[in-house]
Amino acid sequence: MSASSGIPARLAAPEPTWTASADVVVLGSGAAGLSAALAARPVRDVLIITKDTLASGSTAWAQGGLAAVLDPGDSIENHVQDTLDAGAGLCDESAVRTLVTEAPVAIRYLMRLGASFDPGSDGSVALTREGGHSHNRIVHAGGDQSGAEVQRTLDESVQFARVRTVEHAFALDLVTGTDANGNRAVAGVTVAMLDENGGVESVGTVHARAVVIATGGYGQVYASTSNPPAVTGDGIALAIRAGLPVADLEFVQFHPTVLWRGPDATGQQALISEAVRGEGAFLVDAAGKRVMRGVHPQEDLAPRDVVAAAISRRMAEAPAGVDDHVYLDARGIDRFAERFPTITASCRDAGIDPQRELIPVAPAAHYVCGGIRADLDGVTSLQGLYVVGEAACTGVHGANRLASNSLTEGVVAGTRVGRSLAWVLPPETVRRDTSDRDGDSGLLDSYHRGALRAAMSRYVGVLRTPEGMKQAQSILDTLAANVSPRVVATRKAFEATNMLTVASAVVAAAQARTESRGCHRRVDHPEQEESWLRHLEVTLRNGHMETA
Ligand code: SIN
Repeated sequence: MSASSGIPARLAAPEPTWTASADVVVLGSGAAGLSAALAARPVRDVLIITKDTLASGSTAWAQGGLAAVLDPGDSIENHVQDTLDAGAGLCDESAVRTLVTEAPVAIRYLMRLGASFDPGSDGSVALTREGGHSHNRIVHAGGDQSGAEVQRTLDESVQFARVRTVEHAFALDLVTGTDANGNRAVAGVTVAMLDENGGVESVGTVHARAVVIATGGYGQVYASTSNPPAVTGDGIALAIRAGLPVADLEFVQFHPTVLWRGPDATGQQALISEAVRGEGAFLVDAAGKRVMRGVHPQEDLAPRDVVAAAISRRMAEAPAGVDDHVYLDARGIDRFAERFPTITASCRDAGIDPQRELIPVAPAAHYVCGGIRADLDGVTSLQGLYVVGEAACTGVHGANRLASNSLTEGVVAGTRVGRSLAWVLPPETVRRDTSDRDGDSGLLDSYHRGALRAAMSRYVGVLRTPEGMKQAQSILDTLAANVSPRVVATRKAFEATNMLTVASAVVAAAQARTESRGCHRRVDHPEQEESWLRHLEVTLRNGHMETA
């Protein structure tokens, strides 16, 4: 490809030398992907493809838990309303209603599969609270190891159900074709088998009637994130290259409180769950003043976007000279170590005793509210392509996801997609589309990842300015000019190229939305605008992102 043609239309890789097939291929192995695989499995031949090991995604790191109405004093209507309020006008109410109604069923389903959730004093499932929730409705496990319990349960269940899984296999690009009626449809996916160093051993084509993207978000596009290293936006980038529109990407949710470990700490940071504030902790600045006083009626339990923005503003004021973190005061929580064992271990590792000392915290990239356009059954605009979990934009999160709705969504939507594929598979393709190989292919050397992440954190973080976003755009354009088919195909280069692809889409969307709403906060447009009560789609055309 020429030096300035931009984002590649395909990942450069060796030609395929083998083929495999399945009815349904699931890309990714977190809560959403494994739930989809399990639900389709009784009827279909399902193949799970994951670039690392089954448990390497975000699910296993989730601390807070799963939101569901289980308390008789709570109601579906309350949970719906809290989700809509957090979503700042951009939720799809019917998708929210479906999610919330099916959430208690999902909890019972996980328990039937063997999940062990923490019991309350009366023996029923304990419920806690997080930001934006009007009632206690967060189910948790192992104190703050809720995601790990969900991942363990689903890992064991797919193994028990003998679902075929291939680890260390990187999904490169979709293979498309035409069905008997002339509709463009998915015919499979090209896959690179990786060696233990992330080198490519071989490339093959997996033929399937249905491909389910369940690859999660793209927290690693930022210098500081709660997400593990594997979360590089692979499925979203793959869909962008296949020409699908992605929506709401500007709504990157920053978790208000990851453990601050100094100005040079980059990569995955230890999460300090919102459940800590749910149990009574509160934020203070370096001068000891409460951060959330007078900002929102729910104070420290305001929705996450409000808390992250308030912390960022307070850091910019630099009280007592501290401009890069604030503090969480959790000293009033009884038996902290018992309730939050993972957080206690992270704090101790940093030399902090949370029972006696303030915990230094700062916001970090945490969750992507947008993604590939789909409904809660995973159906996208491309026949045979489905998407579930964080990679999907189903309308349940709007402009800001309500805490602990994500694991719940993964299980609910994953199960719905798998079940519908068990009933009916999309039509077979009768003709392979060869134009899918026409586009320029290339890769970005992984060396550039540091510059990309630094640009995104510095210029496209919690508070955004037009000058900053323009600067980010210019850095990404420079990186895109370095994309070349001559870069050696490795996992890191595939990831770097995918990160460039999604980062470019985020910046395009963030520049276009001239208002502040949910997780998207612009210093030059601090208010919500009625005219922006709509979704923004980004599509890749000729190497560049177009917004509509
Ligand atoms: C947390 O425990 O604070 C994170 C939960 C979530 O992201 O939903």
